[in-house]
Amino acid sequence: MPDALPPALGTIEPILPALRDLLGERLSTGQAVREQHGRGEGVPDLFPPDAVAFPGSNEEVAAIARLCHAQRVPIVPFGTGTSLEGHVTALRGGLCVDLTRMDRVLGVSPEALDCRVQAGVTRRRLNAELRSHGMFFPIDPGADASIGGMAATRASGTAAVRYGTMRENVLGLTVVTPDGRIVRTGSRARKSSTGLDLTRLYVGSEGTLGLITEVQLRLQGLPEAVSAAVCQFPDIRAALGATVAVLQAGIPVARIEFVNALQMRMCIRYSKLDEMAELPTLFLEFQGGPAAVAEQVEAVGAVCEEMGGSGFLWANRPEERSRLWKARHDNYYATLHYLPGKSVMGTDACVPVSALAECILETEADVAATGLLAPLVGHVGDGNFHLGIIFDPTDPEQRARADGLARRTGERAIRMGGTCSGEHGIGMHKLDLAAEEHGEALALMWAVKNALDPLGIMNPGKLLKPLPNQA
Ligand code: LAC
Ligand code: ZN
Repeated sequence: MPDALPPALGTIEPILPALRDLLGERLSTGQAVREQHGRGEGVPDLFPPDAVAFPGSNEEVAAIARLCHAQRVPIVPFGTGTSLEGHVTALRGGLCVDLTRMDRVLGVSPEALDCRVQAGVTRRRLNAELRSHGMFFPIDPGADASIGGMAATRASGTAAVRYGTMRENVLGLTVVTPDGRIVRTGSRARKSSTGLDLTRLYVGSEGTLGLITEVQLRLQGLPEAVSAAVCQFPDIRAALGATVAVLQAGIPVARIEFVNALQMRMCIRYSKLDEMAELPTLFLEFQGGPAAVAEQVEAVGAVCEEMGGSGFLWANRPEERSRLWKARHDNYYATLHYLPGKSVMGTDACVPVSALAECILETEADVAATGLLAPLVGHVGDGNFHLGIIFDPTDPEQRARADGLARRTGERAIRMGGTCSGEHGIGMHKLDLAAEEHGEALALMWAVKNALDPLGIMNPGKLLKPLPNQA
């Protein structure tokens, strides 16, 4: 980690009085607040910032950036802290900018199917507000993440197979540059041919280029009918064969999620899914008009049966559906609960769906060889899956075995034509893997980084591994 950090960053002390004048009570140097902002979810390593700012407007964020810029103080943008790869750790100290008080929905248009929000609005709050307009925002990473954080990490989750990721759903942004300029990118148009796509450059930049303060989102009309289903398979190949057949048939499933047998055991225990067996399982959701949904359900039922699937369970009632999806989304807690006192390290391989079965089977053999327990879930419609590697955080040897398994999982995905991160991002944990994946392109990414953040103050130590001549 420390070798990934730029040299010559400044300390915060000289600018603390000016930050206090600007923010008053909304600047905190208390230990508890700093520690709350010193890590995300996932691996528990803690790197607290020196102070935390809670700005309320674009202008305040810009003023903060100008102060930090003048003294070369690191800036770490922060949403709800639910990222999994250590994106929000303050590796070089500095100022954490917590954007959760910028939580206004600025405008909603049912006619244009879009909205503009401040970065701190969470996706659940946004959806609660959109419901009365007959719309929803479909990206569902599980956690109640902030929209700004989701844009910064190019989040996706369970509904990406139908609706895409933040890449497809962000129309434009307001970004505060590290030297304190307020810049708008994109527009409300659904398409544009006006040059370099800065919106997509900032989406997924993990706070390393600037601070995202507003997001223009495309929205969807609320479907008239929603139905969920669960189907269990004799083995992994059968479950993934059914997935490929559903995609090839062009059935517009809203979600198609895989859970392996070990993860099912944990979820059955934790979420009391007593009607289910410890078998490879697909969780599905269908959305649309009632006739279209019925047709999709029937078509998928036939495909699953053909692949040897059984126990095709239906859930049309909202409470049954939310019980099923809660069980899927609680898989992380189910894993933690299974062996109390242990930590869980996530992996995030994503490959062409044609290589998915092979990638998962090789990965499961690797898990068995390490002797660690690592249940597996996957957004299989996107070729994306996660191991939850269980390890004892107090045992360095186990931690090293877990690290090795995670690294090999990422390398395998790259070797199979995929990526070491489908949705969780690079943060501080995957710098080596991402460098391996990008090859020569890493130098171009550094050229962009150096152009937009020449002092290297934005979220130092994340996303981009230093080039050999920078080390
Ligand atoms: C999931 C999150 C952790 O798929 O990405 O459960
Ligand atoms: Zn996921």
